[in-house]
Amino acid sequence: MEVLADVQNTILLKVESYKTETLNTRENFGSKVGAVLAAAGSAVGLGNVWRFPIETGRNGGAAFILVYIACIIVIGLPVMMSEFLIGRSTQSNTARAYQKLAPGTPWRWVGRLGVFTAFFIMCYYGVIAGWTIGYAVLAVGNQFAGKTAADYGPMFSDYATNWWQPLLCMVAFVVLTHVVIVKGVTKGIERWSKVLMPMLFILVLVLVFCSVTLPNAGAGIDFLLKPDWSKVDGSVVLSAMGQAFFSLSLGMGCLCTYASYFDKKTSHGKTAIQVCVIDTLIALMAGFIIFPAVSSVGYSLDPKDVGANLIFITLPNVFQQAFSGVPWLAYIFSVMFYLLIIVAALTSTISLHEVVTSYMAEEFNMPRKKAALWETGGIIFFGIFCSLSFGVLDGVRIFGLNIFDFFDWTASKICLPVGGLFISLFTGWYLDKKLFKDEITNYGSSRAPYVKALIFVLRYVAPIAIFTILLNELGVLSLLGS
Ligand code: TRP
Repeated sequence: MEVLADVQNTILLKVESYKTETLNTRENFGSKVGAVLAAAGSAVGLGNVWRFPIETGRNGGAAFILVYIACIIVIGLPVMMSEFLIGRSTQSNTARAYQKLAPGTPWRWVGRLGVFTAFFIMCYYGVIAGWTIGYAVLAVGNQFAGKTAADYGPMFSDYATNWWQPLLCMVAFVVLTHVVIVKGVTKGIERWSKVLMPMLFILVLVLVFCSVTLPNAGAGIDFLLKPDWSKVDGSVVLSAMGQAFFSLSLGMGCLCTYASYFDKKTSHGKTAIQVCVIDTLIALMAGFIIFPAVSSVGYSLDPKDVGANLIFITLPNVFQQAFSGVPWLAYIFSVMFYLLIIVAALTSTISLHEVVTSYMAEEFNMPRKKAALWETGGIIFFGIFCSLSFGVLDGVRIFGLNIFDFFDWTASKICLPVGGLFISLFTGWYLDKKLFKDEITNYGSSRAPYVKALIFVLRYVAPIAIFTILLNELGVLSLLGS
């Protein structure tokens, strides 16, 4: 019996020392500004500069923007606050967070799904992010000058189908992310967010100024400011909601992981509002860079022209033509624009990488560097297939989609809504309401009269809305189109 008790004691001691070790080595963001900028960095990304203008173009401009803002306030903000409170109350990676809050229940799969989704998103997000490096290099080399409108399409398909260039750029992007991640939370993520986010802001402001002062920019500005409500139908609302989720990095524990580095004084409500405002402002300003420039060269703002290749085909041409009298301005504008997208994408890939790195480091008890290395290796491995699926591997189909589209579809159309649905159900129904209130009010040090409304949204409004997006994306609601 004594031997047994001894063994038990040793095990208990080991568990305790492991606990203190992991607790002590866990870093926090050093400042509130750092926390906000890191979370905003995660949110602001290709979703704002690439996806938002496309969605706005397709769905009728100003009216879409208003619906989008409504979605952010009604659903985005509450779900973001849920992720924050799950993360900070547990101070753990997203998988462990659910285990702590709901031990022994299947809820732990929600956290695991998040880790899986982050990895999946990284694999294809890195490819597009890589393209932006490739295009920045082209811009720096002044390769867009002297071309006619018809040249940019073939130029892009040459680039994307070429096997080694995009591959190299993808690897470069993932390695860049890796370098920041291995530095850790304060010295890596926070420090870089504090440099990159202000830089992004300045780039955006300069570009907006250049764009709205172009001759004939008016039509583009009108498109963004004058709502045409006749265009709004069910599918527009669903697109707006989907865009809000993607743009705010919701649905897979990215912000939950970041919130695990928040200190006890950080207010979830304020931080969430600041992140939503920054994210929306940057998306709007991206619109004010792109649409006035497009209209100034006489392109119609027809959804057909504002297609998926906006950034790589339409815009290089637009920049050249818009500043055709002043070639050096066209040059600078192009270089700054691609630099802007790289910066935006980088702060997002950092957050995606961190979800998996912190999970592996903490769950498999390995040093952060090693965890990051495994993660980077895995992303590059699958990223190669995603990248090549635009060229040599185009014939490979999974459920009728090429590899890139399969990754995109699985992650953003299935995993994100499913994750978001369960996150809102978890905080709305399962989570102890005292903990919920304590977290939102920072353990009574501030007031939060909106707690009841928040819980109501998380219980009913968000799950129903997200479930509808999911059905629509699975094609079940064919009435609404997609
Ligand atoms: N929000 C980022 C963007 O707008 C992308 C992103 C980062 C993301 N982390 C995420 C999207 C988590 C969904 C979930 O580009």
